[in-house]
Amino acid sequence: MTSHDAPDPARDVAADDAFAGVVAMDGPSGTGKSTVARRLAVRLGARYLDTGAMYRAATLAVLRSGVAQTDDTAVTAAVAGSRIDISTDPRHPATRLDGEPVDGPIRSAEVTAAVSGVSAIRAVRAHLVAAQRQLIGAGGIVVEGRDIGSVVCPSAAPKIYLTASAETRARRRAGELGAGTDVAAVAADIARRDRLDSSRAASPLAQASDAIEIDTTNLEIDEVVNRLVDIVRRTAPHA
Ligand code: DC
Repeated sequence: MTSHDAPDPARDVAADDAFAGVVAMDGPSGTGKSTVARRLAVRLGARYLDTGAMYRAATLAVLRSGVAQTDDTAVTAAVAGSRIDISTDPRHPATRLDGEPVDGPIRSAEVTAAVSGVSAIRAVRAHLVAAQRQLIGAGGIVVEGRDIGSVVCPSAAPKIYLTASAETRARRRAGELGAGTDVAAVAADIARRDRLDSSRAASPLAQASDAIEIDTTNLEIDEVVNRLVDIVRRTAPHA
């Protein structure tokens, strides 16, 4: 028995009852989406895909290439010419760009400032959505993003849409960024990205009509995860 086969106390299900479908987890940043999605995947014995990390790695590729961010064709070529690898292990999320680990650089202020622009380009989205569908494969995965239930995997079940008050989202993001972070500046940046992500023509951030909305403002992460495990047990297919 390898260490990968050892019983996992955090996991709810036996290996032969692992979750076989796709959970779509959409919503804006600061709603707890990433943490919730990862913990849910562990509980279900499923894989995990952070599509935001893919848009961030694509943006880093664009910044490194030096092309003008206003030149959609050059930006798309820079993305298509780069290699983005992403782990789907919920315990070890990791992103590589052209073979180099970029988990730090993709969270930098420069990437965060540029990512909404890059992810608004239709051809960039088409390229990354194709890669995401390949990674999703036959399922057994929790996928987080902005357009998972509406575009990437409309057949996902359940579809979850997380929200939280603007103030809570800014506080959580500032907490992630570390002590001394200016919460008002973070709130302004979140509002700017929300506006861009929700108003772009190509696959805007939108709640799928059949998504279950959960407001996380007054919930602890584990309460949200427990609710989701219940929802998955009720609604989703198992192997
Ligand atoms: O989840 P995040 O903040 O790491 O996402 C970074 C950016 O990527 C976000 O501003 C919107 C974009 N994004 C997207 O357009 N579609 C997705 N499926 C995921 C992220």
